[in-house]
Amino acid sequence: MKLDIANMKYQDSRKFLISAITPRPIAWVSTIGENGVFNLAPFSFFCPVSSNPPMLGFNANSNRDGTKKDTLRNIEFAKEYVINVVNEELGQQMNQSSQEYPPDVSEFKEVGLTPIKADRVKAPLVAEAPVSMECRLTQILEFGKERKSYFIIGELLMAHVKDELWVNGQVDQTKLRSIARMGGEWFCRTRDVFELKRPYPYP
Ligand SMILES: Cc1cc2nc3c(=O)[nH]c(=O)nc-3n(C[C@H](O)[C@H](O)[C@H](O)COP(=O)(O)O)c2cc1C
Repeated sequence: MKLDIANMKYQDSRKFLISAITPRPIAWVSTIGENGVFNLAPFSFFCPVSSNPPMLGFNANSNRDGTKKDTLRNIEFAKEYVINVVNEELGQQMNQSSQEYPPDVSEFKEVGLTPIKADRVKAPLVAEAPVSMECRLTQILEFGKERKSYFIIGELLMAHVKDELWVNGQVDQTKLRSIARMGGEWFCRTRDVFELKRPYPYP
């Protein structure tokens, strides 16, 4: 099977990307709007983009009507945000927070989560999240024409990890229980972890 991705409609090439590149970690992004309302939404086109300095990137497509998503507009305004990690317990609320609520409605209230004050940024942390990362915007890359994609890159300033998850200087992979997005409406758990020893000294 060959797929002529360059000549495919947006919806079809997107389906390919979403189902071929799996599992994808989920950036659960909390922001604050110009109106002071806390916003929260999940984004699975998400990755670390630099180790030194530590930087993270995620993608926000434009809405179906071509307008920018609240997350992007809030980040353009505040230049700061928090990326929260989603574990098994938070899966339903994460999914619910992807609803297109109006900008004056806070997903925190709608899905029953607790916003708490961050140390370095104005956007709130999700108190229930196992890990939260405070970020400062560095750049936004814009792609496409009608339905644009925006790749939002930020520097990681401060991380919060639940005490019980921090073992030997790292987040314990057997305890984190993060979930990830697969194709369609499929997700996966990360319970089945295994170790491969590097063939050279690590780290
Ligand atoms: C698991 C999951 C992953 C998602 N990943 C993305 C993504 O990578 N890019 C994107 O633009 N929207 C993604 N969405 C959809 C957004 O979460 C959705 O459009 C949301 O309403 C945006 O909220 P906002 O307007 O408050 O920013 C995803 C939704 C879910 C449930």
